[in-house]
Amino acid sequence: MMEKYYFIMTYGCQMNIHESEKIAGILENLGYKATDCVENADVIAFNTCCIRETAEQKIMGHIGSLEKLKKNKPHVKIVLCGCMTQQEGKGEEIKSKYPYVDYILGTHNIDQLHDLLEKQSKSKILVEQTDGYITENMPVTRTSMPNAWVNIIYGCNNFCTYCIVPYVRGRERSRSMQSIKAEVESLVAEGYKEITLLGQNVNSYGNDLKDGSSFAKLLNELAQIPGDFRLRFMTSHPKDFTDDVIEAIASNDKICKHIHLPVQAGSTNMLKAMNRKYTRESYLELVDKIKTKIPSVGITTDIMVGFNGETDEDFEETLSLVEKCKFSSAFCFVYSKRKGTVGYNMTNIVPQEVKKERIKRLIALQNKITRQGNSKYLGNVFEILVEDVNSKFENTYCGRTDCGRLVNFKSDKNILNQFVKVKVTKGTSATLWGEIQE
Ligand code: SAH
Ligand code: SF4
Ligand code: F3S
Repeated sequence: MMEKYYFIMTYGCQMNIHESEKIAGILENLGYKATDCVENADVIAFNTCCIRETAEQKIMGHIGSLEKLKKNKPHVKIVLCGCMTQQEGKGEEIKSKYPYVDYILGTHNIDQLHDLLEKQSKSKILVEQTDGYITENMPVTRTSMPNAWVNIIYGCNNFCTYCIVPYVRGRERSRSMQSIKAEVESLVAEGYKEITLLGQNVNSYGNDLKDGSSFAKLLNELAQIPGDFRLRFMTSHPKDFTDDVIEAIASNDKICKHIHLPVQAGSTNMLKAMNRKYTRESYLELVDKIKTKIPSVGITTDIMVGFNGETDEDFEETLSLVEKCKFSSAFCFVYSKRKGTVGYNMTNIVPQEVKKERIKRLIALQNKITRQGNSKYLGNVFEILVEDVNSKFENTYCGRTDCGRLVNFKSDKNILNQFVKVKVTKGTSATLWGEIQE
């Protein structure tokens, strides 16, 4: 029999990266094999993101570039799925612009891919409008050894006024503690060394189950699983970050001391306009409390500039919050309006030049803080999980510290997927370098 191949292109967040592993699982069950070369593929799947307009534009461009390929090889199936396709009317819009796309699947319709391909169905748009449900036991093809992603909660209930995620991912649905634990146990048995728990807001884990499950309980439970592994999680929402979660992180060696705690803005006015449900002061207090209880912690964040109504004073407050918090790193974004959100209809828009100026200043400030933070690590020894080869240099590997910093180091032996002790020897720039300790 002829070999059949699939190619998956993933856009967006960790959630999507993990979902692509599920798409790969479906395709491998149908007998397809992975290829890195789009020209060789019989199925081409784009797992899309629509968090910002730039993300969508990039994807649209990539779909456009498949036209010739599809003309030359009409048997190739082109599949679009992920967040972008779930937006109202988007499926039809894409189909009219790019008629050669075969299957357009919404975020709740991924499991239907199996049947569509098995039956080689005619082209179809399947986008279900629902709050969502959970499909357990989907096949998963992981490609990220020694890291594994595990969903703990799907969807989002927060409706931050700028954000499209609640509209394309449905309401919060937590998996049962039992099924999460079973998955983590089997991953540890398979040799995965780092398990990252995923959710848009991991701190609200369990609220919808109404059986007493909570994120703190889940962390404590998972940290009891025996074996040589560690746990990470993302993303934390500041409004729900309870003391028992801080306690769970502080008291379990297996839980990494890294918290991704998106602040978005430093002024209470903006936070209110964004519907974030915390204030500048309560965020600063939370950061203080975390740093006191977990001294080795690394806190990272997301920040957005130029949301509707953001004044110079508001922006200065963002800069001063960044100075105060000393984040180990920050993802900085320019606000992009998204159809269907509350922000879309607001009229107090910040001009593009102002947004550009602000993002430049913000990034420059955070870069300075990142470098200063890194230089403090000089001489410290960290336990690092060797995750990858740094192919730019000879015999060079890289991996993360418990607190989330990426470190490069040399080794003559193949040390991939192992925990090693590394002393930081160069820490003045954005990247850290170190030496393995015997
Ligand atoms: N659930 C996470 C965020 C997921 S989206 C949380 O609540 O923190 C990842 C980041 O994208 C957000 O933290 C925000 O900074 C950014 N983002 C979301 N919507 C955006 C928009 N419309 N324009 C620009 N950035 C946006
Ligand atoms: Fe978007 Fe807010 Fe939900 Fe995060 S918490 S996914 S920013 S709506
Ligand atoms: Fe993630 Fe983008 Fe969807 S950030 S949840 S893939 S809109």
